[in-house]
Amino acid sequence: MPVPTQLHSLRITPLVHDPKETKVDFGATVEGVDLNDVDPETFAVLRDAVLKYRLLVFKGQAKLHPANQLAFVQRFSPGSTNFSHGLDPDYLKRRGNSGATIPGVPQCQILGFGQVPPGHHGLKEDVFIARQDHRKMHKTPLSDEELEQGYTRMMQLHFDGALYGIPPPFVGSLLAVHTPKGNDLTLTFDNENGRGEKRIAPGSTAYFNAAQAWRLLTDEQRETARHSTVTYAPHAFSWIASTKFTSDGSSIVTEGKEVPLDELPPWEASKLKTMPMVWYSPLDGTPSLMIHGQCAMRVHVKRSADDEVKVLDDLGEVRAFLQAYQLPILRPEYVYAHNHQEGDLAVWYNQGMWHSITEFPERCGRRIMHQVNLGHNVDPDLVPLDAGVVRQL
Ligand SMILES: [Fe+2]
Repeated sequence: MPVPTQLHSLRITPLVHDPKETKVDFGATVEGVDLNDVDPETFAVLRDAVLKYRLLVFKGQAKLHPANQLAFVQRFSPGSTNFSHGLDPDYLKRRGNSGATIPGVPQCQILGFGQVPPGHHGLKEDVFIARQDHRKMHKTPLSDEELEQGYTRMMQLHFDGALYGIPPPFVGSLLAVHTPKGNDLTLTFDNENGRGEKRIAPGSTAYFNAAQAWRLLTDEQRETARHSTVTYAPHAFSWIASTKFTSDGSSIVTEGKEVPLDELPPWEASKLKTMPMVWYSPLDGTPSLMIHGQCAMRVHVKRSADDEVKVLDDLGEVRAFLQAYQLPILRPEYVYAHNHQEGDLAVWYNQGMWHSITEFPERCGRRIMHQVNLGHNVDPDLVPLDAGVVRQL
């Protein structure tokens, strides 16, 4: 008997972006599919769609069970069962009460802010998720007056991944269970491009297309990026725990506050991640500029195939070097701030996108999200490309 397929009801609709207001070039909504049970034929179409559109917003998934969200994400990374940070006790300690775990599905994290409904998916304890506050994380936060006027920031711009030991997830996923409500906020970009602003809904996730970041580089930058690699710190998030972020959340203000490497939890040199600056899509070889601006510890700069490698390990220099590659896209016209509707499952190509939480006032109410991401089964530099794909675009 043939396997029943949901292909006949599947509708993938590209997001419409007004070119007068934005230069965003990605995203699609997906309707007519129940992600609790996806047949292989439908999954093959969805996998290609994630790579093509970079961000898929599956509508009407309020009944998606955490175990099935995990099973769906797992199909992008066959064989992987590890939450992207593994069972790192240090990560769970740092997360503290800013997250919780679904009983029986440890790879599904509850994130956001506010009271989790009692008994939610079998949670025994009364869980309150603490709100993240950019004033504790950014070196130069917004003033009380600006916050009162509805200004906000990206908290920490990143791609998901432990950046130590475990390969970064192929896709990220976020199910909106409860979302904040209220008037739109003004997202500010305070960086070397000047102060930019964009109106967003409270609780939006900010997304950037790292393929677009690549296209915005100069020819010279691309040539260097193709040949250079970045080494990330061991237990990178513990390493930066006492540092402060730049005002657009993309980098760290260098003040010597990183934890000395010999004072971190035990680590092994063989588990350090040294990764290319450019990662290529397994769909069609599209290059993406993939830099984690906060956790980089060293850059091996090689400006052409024949150039000698120059190692940058002064953190101020490392950050300035990487920031020059990130800055061209860190403007309001390139961000898509997804206004999560309850029941939306956002699934994005984590190896080709950057994202950030945006802060919202407590008065907007709770934000309860189910996050599932898994360390991929191979590092991006080892991803086998389909035959015929040209890597050097
Ligand atoms: Fe994330």
